[in-house]
Amino acid sequence: ERDAKDIALDAFRAPEPDGALTTDQGIRVDDTDNSLTVGERGPTLLEDFHLREKLTRFDHERIPERVVHARGAGAYGFFEPYESLAEFTCADFLQEAGRRTPVFVRFSTVQGPRGSADTVRDVRGFATKFYTRQGNYDLVGNNMPVFFIQDAIKFPDFVHAVKMEPHNEIPTGGTAHDTFWDFCSLQPESTHMLMWAMSDRAIPRSFRMMQGFGVHTFRLVTADGRATFVKFHWKPKLGVACQVWDEAQITAGRDPDFHRRDLWEAIEAGEFPEWELGVQLIPEKDEFSFPFDLLDPTKLVPEELVPVRPVGRMVLDRNPENFFAETEQVAFHTANVVPGIDFTNDPLLQGRNFSYLDTQLIRLGGPNFSQLPVNRPLAEVRTDQRDGYGQQVIHSGTSYAPNSVGGGCPATLGGGRLAEGVFEHYQERVDGQAIRRRSPSFADHYGQAALFWRSMAGWEQEHIIAAFSFELGKVGDQAVRHRMVANLARVDQELAVEVARRIGEPEPAPEPAPDRPTGDREAGAVGERVSPA
Ligand code: HEM
Repeated sequence: ERDAKDIALDAFRAPEPDGALTTDQGIRVDDTDNSLTVGERGPTLLEDFHLREKLTRFDHERIPERVVHARGAGAYGFFEPYESLAEFTCADFLQEAGRRTPVFVRFSTVQGPRGSADTVRDVRGFATKFYTRQGNYDLVGNNMPVFFIQDAIKFPDFVHAVKMEPHNEIPTGGTAHDTFWDFCSLQPESTHMLMWAMSDRAIPRSFRMMQGFGVHTFRLVTADGRATFVKFHWKPKLGVACQVWDEAQITAGRDPDFHRRDLWEAIEAGEFPEWELGVQLIPEKDEFSFPFDLLDPTKLVPEELVPVRPVGRMVLDRNPENFFAETEQVAFHTANVVPGIDFTNDPLLQGRNFSYLDTQLIRLGGPNFSQLPVNRPLAEVRTDQRDGYGQQVIHSGTSYAPNSVGGGCPATLGGGRLAEGVFEHYQERVDGQAIRRRSPSFADHYGQAALFWRSMAGWEQEHIIAAFSFELGKVGDQAVRHRMVANLARVDQELAVEVARRIGEPEPAPEPAPDRPTGDREAGAVGERVSPA
């Protein structure tokens, strides 16, 4: 059965090319193989509008690739809750067991350009657009539950360090370059994420076999304004599976499209990939009951402290028809939330809420990209936003409020009452002085890195040691290697000693982690186990 988004896209699908060729103006063309020339061997005439249009349109086919997550693959599908979550949120798409909401998901690597290989060591993006009745909700996550930095103001630095080096654009994949390790060695808050990035999680077997995480703490909010903190998790029905490093490298060479091919072929074959959506729910009153800050995106909430509650499933059952129109032009944004889902003051999330729309204004050529077919909400759009490049809508009437002459869109019903289903920002009490300083509650950079390390099986630890040794072994700058080994010693002495030995560094002195204790626990911290490769 076709879902509402699929049907809505019909309006934009090109007709079958069964008639004769025309120009963009609909003029039928006599010949598309020969330019109009003066005589058979003479110069080409400027008046050949078909030639000029054909070349011009070709010249303008490319748009900028995403500044990060440039390479990806997407698919449509649906989400359905197992149960009503009305107790925690008024989000319409979470009210009713079994009610399906169409989705579009884009998986991606982070570092490499559009043409890079799929199976490099990297974080994977896992971004979901829910076309809900109340408008689009985007859950823009990754396949790892934490991030490299705590504050959005570090993101440009981080990405400049992780991308290809500026003088020669080498390398085109992986993280094996000096600038990345230089940055991480000077930025200990990245240590926890580094442990994940050097684990097998960074070389997934398939998009279908990856977990997804919202990373930040968000809020679920009820209609009467009651909030619950939430962490979002996607668990793949096929389980988590990864490649081994040699396999990933060989695959990158033999089939750079390994992951997009895998996703495409599985869906074509009717083997629809499926994920379970899980939530960790934390009452507002427990905000300060953890040995880390809930607003710190370099920390996860251990599952043994707050279990993951499965609340629904997502199935991807339809491939896009046109990569550019759909997968390339899709625009996800953390600030696309619906009533019942809200932000927290996580300083990384706060910056993301600015960055996505800003980058899409240039990537997608102006302010009207939400009118592109893949981005269009199923919910009716009624705004006083007007004009701009690529405007598709023929608006009529005036576009301001308040308005007594007709037109304009009032946000409230008569008498100042709010319209049904409006987005009301959560009324968090905020009080403080403007200050440019990281909260001391964000200071522990090693506790959860150590927790992650200790929760690994022996063979997983061996893979992590091998990954650090492989990557750091290629770093030319001795000072960077020293600093990284010293950071690792704050995570685990044996890990640091073994990496040092393999890359020919002196054995590091034991380095107690300088930060406050975390009270972390041993097991159950990292979610689904990776099956042995
Ligand atoms: C893509 C910024 C952190 C997940 C992007 C893009 C930008 C960006 C500018 C390109 C978007 C586009 O061109 O459409 C940032 C900033 C961050 C940040 C400023 C931190 C301050 C994160 C984190 C996650 C994440 C923590 C995961 C939880 C993604 C994903 C995409 C993406 C999945 C690809 C979306 C797609 O498939 O189109 N990010 N990002 N980002 N980001 Fe972030």
